[in-house]
Amino acid sequence: MPAATVTDSTVTDSGRKRRGAVILRARGITKTFPGVLAIRAGELEVRAGEIHALVGENGAGKSTLIKILTGAHPPDAGRIEWCGRPVRIRSPQDALRLGIAAIYQEFNLVPGLSVRENLFLGRERTRRGLIDVARERHRGLQVLQRLGAEIDLEAPTGRLAVAGQQLVETARAILDDARLLIMDEPTAALMPREVDRLFAVLAGLRGRGHGILFISHRIDEVFRIADRVTVMRDGETLGCWPTSELTRGALIEKMVGRPLEQEFPKQSSPPGAVVLELRDLCGGAVRGVGLRIHAGEVLGLAGLVGAGRSELARLIFGADRPAGGEIRLDGARARIRSPRDAIRQGICLLTEDRKSQGLVLGLSARENFALPNLGHWSRGGWIDGRAEARAFSRFVESLQIRIAGPEQPARHLSGGNQQKLLIARWLEQDARVVIFDEPTRGIDVGTKYEIYLLINALARRGKAILMISSELPEILGMSDRILVMREGCIAGEIEKPAQSSQEQILGIAVG
Ligand SMILES: Nc1ncnc2c1ncn2[C@@H]1O[C@H](COP(=O)(O)OP(=O)(O)OP(=O)(O)O)[C@@H](O)[C@H]1O
Ligand SMILES: [Mg+2]
Repeated sequence: MPAATVTDSTVTDSGRKRRGAVILRARGITKTFPGVLAIRAGELEVRAGEIHALVGENGAGKSTLIKILTGAHPPDAGRIEWCGRPVRIRSPQDALRLGIAAIYQEFNLVPGLSVRENLFLGRERTRRGLIDVARERHRGLQVLQRLGAEIDLEAPTGRLAVAGQQLVETARAILDDARLLIMDEPTAALMPREVDRLFAVLAGLRGRGHGILFISHRIDEVFRIADRVTVMRDGETLGCWPTSELTRGALIEKMVGRPLEQEFPKQSSPPGAVVLELRDLCGGAVRGVGLRIHAGEVLGLAGLVGAGRSELARLIFGADRPAGGEIRLDGARARIRSPRDAIRQGICLLTEDRKSQGLVLGLSARENFALPNLGHWSRGGWIDGRAEARAFSRFVESLQIRIAGPEQPARHLSGGNQQKLLIARWLEQDARVVIFDEPTRGIDVGTKYEIYLLINALARRGKAILMISSELPEILGMSDRILVMREGCIAGEIEKPAQSSQEQILGIAVG
């Protein structure tokens, strides 16, 4: 679809075109947390009928800025104007009353309630004191249909996939008459087809005059859907540009502060002996997977969500019990009963879900780093705190983790920095097999590059690497070989990724 430009941001309104007025303007926003200047003089402007992208490196201050706009954090200084009038937004309720709704990655839905109940939670339609179910159903259906969402209103919300829950949140924002919809990395957990659908929904909302502000680390999405883009760097807003006036390279350079010559620095080392072999492995959604990974090889594992990729990783890691089949390490059958067993035998897993399976949010960054590595720095039963601290700061530096200090609670790190912390702690392990599940989800372009260099370095040191990724350019750009899973089985292999295409992978994945 053609992108409207700033100077002529147009909205089709019953066949007539009009310029979208500025609905939100933020000036001089400043926010400090203990030890961190998160935002300094932040500027932002969103118009009605525009899709506006907010981009920048991990820790640049994007989430903090939108939390200020939605009343989740008070700013230290700055002014916010809503539809031309200065406003104070002290709580999410204030924001909603104005017509600003936010959809975060952790959804605000009650899993045990039905979709309808979630849609009308706190805004129940009643009749003589009783919930008017018929009216709620009618209105709910109307909104879901408008979004093109085929969702059963009486289904338990917790059973919906991420994409479904996101649509329910979007529907709720529309029920609340939101004029500005803010989404923090809405596509991070979606499959290509779900992204298409979300973008169609957003384009529809733009056509109706809603303003949309969204954060994304995927540059192609910014160019695909956004009319304008605001770039943040180190807590400052660098500026705002119509996407039609920028190239991909120019935008990356603004974000990272330097040009990035190459996005995928793939190096291949000659593969050695087979390190990990699976024979007919079954369990959960996984139905008979056989594969081999050689020392120094990066094996990419592609497939749609639900194809069984993460479950396969959990089986190998001992997080779930296989129902059958064999796991072999260096040619011998391995007994892996628990993640502890797996770690002891040199297998590590970087999980896709950092919140629930990875970090202990209440502990500090350093403690999280040290957690699986305690044996590493202990001398005669004592932890060598100095060696641990040295290892920690080495990793903070090499991964450019943006952090106030080693004792900062993991909870307060930005999303991308939490991910880097997880990687840091597993890389410290003396592993022979490293499984990455969506290693760069939520990671900015500059740091993705750093992570790819780390993957190269691990391969050079002879580790066998299994890389699960839904980012097709990444899997094509960084794997030596690709296996594609479908319905729990290996559906196909791509031997020369460099000569392959995204279409070829999707073709196998869909069947
Ligand atoms: N509640 C908090 N307490 C302390 N520091 C915080 C808090 N929230 C954010 N920060 C810090 O503020 C800075 C900006 O974080 P923010 O989450 O806004 O980054 P971001 O641009 O959204 O990054 P990402 O792309 O990784 O999600 C970071 O240095 C972060 O550690
Ligand atoms: Mg963020």
